[in-house]
Amino acid sequence: MIQNARKLAWIVFGLAFFATTSSQHQKIPYRTRNPFLLTPGERRLSSFSQEEMLDARNEAREMFYFGYENYMSHAFPLDELDPIHCTGRGPDYKNPTNININDVLGDYSLTLLDSLDSLVVFGDSKEFRRAVKLAIRTVNFDKNATVQVFEATIRVIGSLLSAHLIASDKSRTLGDFYMEDYDGELLSMAHELASRLMPAFDGSRTGIPYTRVNLRLGILPDTINETCTAGAGSLLLEFGILSRLLKDHTYEHAARRINEKLWQLRDPITGLLGNLLNIQTGKWVGHLSGLGAGLDSFFEYLLKAYIMFGEKRDLQLFNEAYASILDNMRRGRSSCSLEDGEPPLFVNVDARDGSTANTWIDSLQVYFLILLFSLIKFFIPGKFRWSSLTCWGR
Ligand SMILES: *[C@@H]1O[C@H](CO)[C@@H](O)[C@H](O)[C@H]1NC(C)=O
Ligand SMILES: *[C@@H]1O[C@H](CO)[C@@H](O)[C@H](O)[C@H]1NC(C)=O
Repeated sequence: MIQNARKLAWIVFGLAFFATTSSQHQKIPYRTRNPFLLTPGERRLSSFSQEEMLDARNEAREMFYFGYENYMSHAFPLDELDPIHCTGRGPDYKNPTNININDVLGDYSLTLLDSLDSLVVFGDSKEFRRAVKLAIRTVNFDKNATVQVFEATIRVIGSLLSAHLIASDKSRTLGDFYMEDYDGELLSMAHELASRLMPAFDGSRTGIPYTRVNLRLGILPDTINETCTAGAGSLLLEFGILSRLLKDHTYEHAARRINEKLWQLRDPITGLLGNLLNIQTGKWVGHLSGLGAGLDSFFEYLLKAYIMFGEKRDLQLFNEAYASILDNMRRGRSSCSLEDGEPPLFVNVDARDGSTANTWIDSLQVYFLILLFSLIKFFIPGKFRWSSLTCWGR
């Protein structure tokens, strides 16, 4: 379920990389040394040649435009392109139980919003400006659509906030994306959508939100009480930035409260969290613990929130979670390559005793490597100036 890029996190990490590499062609000045570029020493150690890296970059660009342009021609203003029928697709209003579709598609031109930061990544300021104006003109959140709080947050609120920050960035840190005639509309949209998600917190006895909420009607009768850990505990980047931009701590406070509650519910012996719990009773329904689906972005957001906001508490939770991960999930030899024995691996375990729970790992857990890489390489709090957004007397 938890399988999508976390937009703001990628804004922080990804944009710097592409903006810098594309700026070398477009001669856009940039200010910070990009921690994503390899140093000459690292380049010598890399298994990819410069040419291979350029090829991969061009291929990624072509794939993006293939998807984006076909969406705009055949699907916009619906949420996404149905690639089999080459038509647009939105929520399945006729069948509310079709959650594969309805969790993500909210009748809010999802792909357009989702693409705003990609246009920045690819250095396309002309299309970025056009897409921002189109989004402001056409997207509307007053829909009888029941979406996942998590999906709407990471995709839509994340998109709106990152595009807002970029369109209003006079110093043009990421390239020529500043919009003279932009007046904070995307921030207002993010605020409106977040307000429409907030009913998910009402009526929850633990403060952990319902998984799904109707954008117009709030929590519908018979909404399930179960949520996965990652879905609940991956709101802090977006809610935190929203709060700081609005100077209204409601959103950040709600997101922090979830994280603290989840933390309280960890197993007292192993320190691990399960993957599914009941938001009313605070009891675990699923005891599987691992780095993939169900938990992934919870860990990711703790570290990235610390990098973004510099709050020590987020780092403390991450460090303790990481210690439990190493204690319970790691198998194989203790070093990567210098010893005999099975290759090192993080496996899925039972949160209650750390025993191996199954014999598969899922592809989503690849993010963990990048997380550890960020820990080592970019770990400089305040670097991204997000802490300067702090606004209530800290
Ligand atoms: C909202 O949508 C549901 C199902 O898609 C429908 O049954 C219901 O009547 C709608 N309610 C309103 C107020 O539009
Ligand atoms: C969710 O929990 C509440 C409070 O315990 C209960 O009243 C409600 O019936 C539950 N909902 C479902 C769908 O089980």
